[in-house]
Amino acid sequence: MTLSGKRILLIISGGIAAYKSLDLIRRLRERGATVTPVMTKAAQEFVTPLAVGALSATHVFLDLFSRTDEQDVGHIRLARGHDLIVVAPATADLMAKRANGLADDLASAILLATDRPVLMAPAMNPAMWSNPATQRNLRTLTADGVRFIGPMAGEMAEAGEQGIGRMAEPLDIVASAQALLDDTPRPLAGKRAIVTSGPTHEPIDPVRYIANRSSGRQGHAIAAALAALGADVTLVSGPVSIPDPAGVKVIHVERAAEMLEAVLGALPADLAVMVAAVADWRVAAESARKIKKKPGDKAPTLAMTENPDILKTVGHHAARPKLIIGFAAETHDILANARTKLDAKGADFIVANDVSPETGIMGGTRNSVKIVSRDGIDEWPEMDKEAVAARLAAFAAERLAP
Ligand SMILES: Cc1cc2nc3c(=O)[nH]c(=O)nc-3n(C[C@H](O)[C@H](O)[C@H](O)COP(=O)(O)O)c2cc1C
Repeated sequence: MTLSGKRILLIISGGIAAYKSLDLIRRLRERGATVTPVMTKAAQEFVTPLAVGALSATHVFLDLFSRTDEQDVGHIRLARGHDLIVVAPATADLMAKRANGLADDLASAILLATDRPVLMAPAMNPAMWSNPATQRNLRTLTADGVRFIGPMAGEMAEAGEQGIGRMAEPLDIVASAQALLDDTPRPLAGKRAIVTSGPTHEPIDPVRYIANRSSGRQGHAIAAALAALGADVTLVSGPVSIPDPAGVKVIHVERAAEMLEAVLGALPADLAVMVAAVADWRVAAESARKIKKKPGDKAPTLAMTENPDILKTVGHHAARPKLIIGFAAETHDILANARTKLDAKGADFIVANDVSPETGIMGGTRNSVKIVSRDGIDEWPEMDKEAVAARLAAFAAERLAP
């Protein structure tokens, strides 16, 4: 998610954390936002308008009664001409002014005149924060629709002071601003989804296991795409080396049996997307100790036994999700295998992909899939795994629409 094209008015008030606003300006601009800074008189005691202007690369507004600024832009236009107003740091004083409707300087006048969303990042001494007056103002501002991020607990700039009062970190303020400005439709809001991803590792002994080449990229991207459409997503992931997607509850497992248990524990759900490359078999008698090679011994024979079929279990479960999408990774007879799987597993759709080594799909970044249903086959062009995920999430949302 970016802030591309978003116009942010940043009010810097007079707290010691004002130095962090310089970094905040950089972070917002890095993501494509334009930042118009407004500084209170007190803020200018902590950082200079020169530094703020150099980082924002725009005019810095300082004074309500500036003849030039009022003629050029005016405080009412500043208050309205932006997508979001961020106050960082927000002093106890500025919170109090806004809560009581005071408007005796440029920052407070803008806050009173605006009809735009306002995000405040308070920063102050813990005693100031916990003072009943500040807490009263916080309740008033929250009731007025002002959003807050922080303050956080920790060390204060003043020596020996600790408690709640530190300003939230710039990147967390950016994330909050992005969430506030995100106007993506959320057709899956209120829907629960389970996604499985990655390979499973089936142990042979404490140091060896049977695995496959699945990277988890496709499953993780689908979990993220469903969450982006508002779904409450539980991702059950086998061992992978990619990070957990944001905004998703992740359960890490190793073997197929653990994956099944986690999936059943996540039911009921409206939607299940089973992407994990689950091992069909495991070693029948897992050795509790490392199997040792002794001179003259023949190579051991591993007897295998069948693993639980997670897709099939969920497809025939009493709490079966309304929509079940399974993945079929095949190297031959792809469509015939996918059609068989559809019926045998009780899935609504099978996403078939050719994982022959020459396709580079297994473990790679791109995918080429065919959506197989009882009504036919929909062939999607080759695209990266994030694009497949976004399209599949939209596809699921359409099918779950009331
Ligand atoms: C060294 C110093 C640090 C201060 N730090 C803070 C602070 O972190 N938070 C706060 O609310 N006030 C702080 N103040 C007090 C404010 O600067 C003061 O209340 C000022 O009037 C705020 O004005 P403004 O809200 O218009 O920016 C500090 C004052 C000094 C002298």
